[in-house]
Amino acid sequence: MKRPLSPIRRYGGTIQVPGDKSIAHRAALLSLLAHDRITITNFPDNADCASSLNAAKSLGVKIDGENGAIVLTPPEALDVSPDTIIDCGNSGTTARLLSGIVAGSGLTATLAGDESLSRRPMKRIIDPLTAMGAELFADEDHLPIKISGKKLLPYEYRLPVPSAQVKSAVLLAGLASSCSVDIKEDVLTRDHTERMISELGGAIEVAEIKPVLVTDPIDPRKKRQEMPADFKKEIHLSSQARLSGGNIDIPGDLSTAAFFMAAAAISKQSITIENLGLNPTRTEFLDHLRTIGCAVEIKDRAVISNEPRGTVTVTGGKLKARKLGGGTIVGLIDEIPIIAVIAAFAEGTTLIRDAAELRVKESDRLAAVAENLHSMGVKCGVLEDGLAIEGGKELPGTDFKSFGDHRIAMAFSIASLFLVGPSTIDDDSVVGISCPNFYSILEKITG
Ligand code: S3P
Repeated sequence: MKRPLSPIRRYGGTIQVPGDKSIAHRAALLSLLAHDRITITNFPDNADCASSLNAAKSLGVKIDGENGAIVLTPPEALDVSPDTIIDCGNSGTTARLLSGIVAGSGLTATLAGDESLSRRPMKRIIDPLTAMGAELFADEDHLPIKISGKKLLPYEYRLPVPSAQVKSAVLLAGLASSCSVDIKEDVLTRDHTERMISELGGAIEVAEIKPVLVTDPIDPRKKRQEMPADFKKEIHLSSQARLSGGNIDIPGDLSTAAFFMAAAAISKQSITIENLGLNPTRTEFLDHLRTIGCAVEIKDRAVISNEPRGTVTVTGGKLKARKLGGGTIVGLIDEIPIIAVIAAFAEGTTLIRDAAELRVKESDRLAAVAENLHSMGVKCGVLEDGLAIEGGKELPGTDFKSFGDHRIAMAFSIASLFLVGPSTIDDDSVVGISCPNFYSILEKITG
């Protein structure tokens, strides 16, 4: 539905956001490979994670509710008729991770998705899973994909795209097929799969390659830092890896919290978010906020279910532009739309490069962001792999488009709070993909 949006006078408070979507997908899908029941607390009630739960159910997992938790009981053996079509909805994480599980399980099934998901690239998982021995049939490397799972071969893989979904597909294929997998990452991607496999008792080893001090060959009195390898991380999944059951508690989703933090940044007010996931592969956005002029305070740090979390307070300040690119982009990949909105209210020109991956998300996010920024009167240059955004001016309200993408709808709903005059967003229902209560949270902390 089209939603009217108005500028605000007051912002701030203490909130919690729904559980982390990436962790929830993994908890739902790993239940397919577990040998006992998995009890999940703070599972987010959103459309994307429902796609993973439905997929688990189609392959035989029993889903029950118990005292606010979800209990997933795996079947004795996974089973599905070969003509089954599993609907992954809008969820790339469901489609890619589930492909790995089906490929390694010896089952045959077809994975399908909505129009947006059917446009997203799948060659990145088809290639490695085929190399491991599975058979995958897809028209032009897009969903629907028919997968004929096999007993797979041990596999060594250096990730050609920095993608946690691809890494996870390969790891889950190995786990499903009891074959060893060795993965090298040149850029660190989110590591929730490795952490959850380990939490559930699976034999997985992770070595992060750190710089070492070496003697300078030119001046032996000096030392300099050198990387001992040309990759950043090595992961070894043993062929003996077996998952037991267990309890998984999901912290709040930093990628959702980012929208509320952005409003604090722009309004120069404070927002506190409790029980927020602080996995180091996801916290680059907090560093970004500090770099552009905000204060970020973290309290009550804890590690539960092998995932760090804490209470985060962000206080806005005078915002300045910044150049973003290279290895930092992966750590902020889902936050670029809201970073672009913040840039419109910062002094100077924000340059975002090396972000071509945004063109193949739920929408072409570079084009979607640019169109909405132009519509609110911002000077924004569109590059093949990024954006150049000139900020700092007073801007009028406008009619925003969501492009069917939850993060675009949330980013520009936040922008509307700081425009002069009313705005609208064409379809507010898309926030249901990750945060159905987005507008009700916003209502509590604005006035
Ligand atoms: C995700 C990984 C990222 C991210 C997506 C969720 C995950 O995608 O953008 O929203 O849960 O593994 P890629 O793996 O395609 O980079």
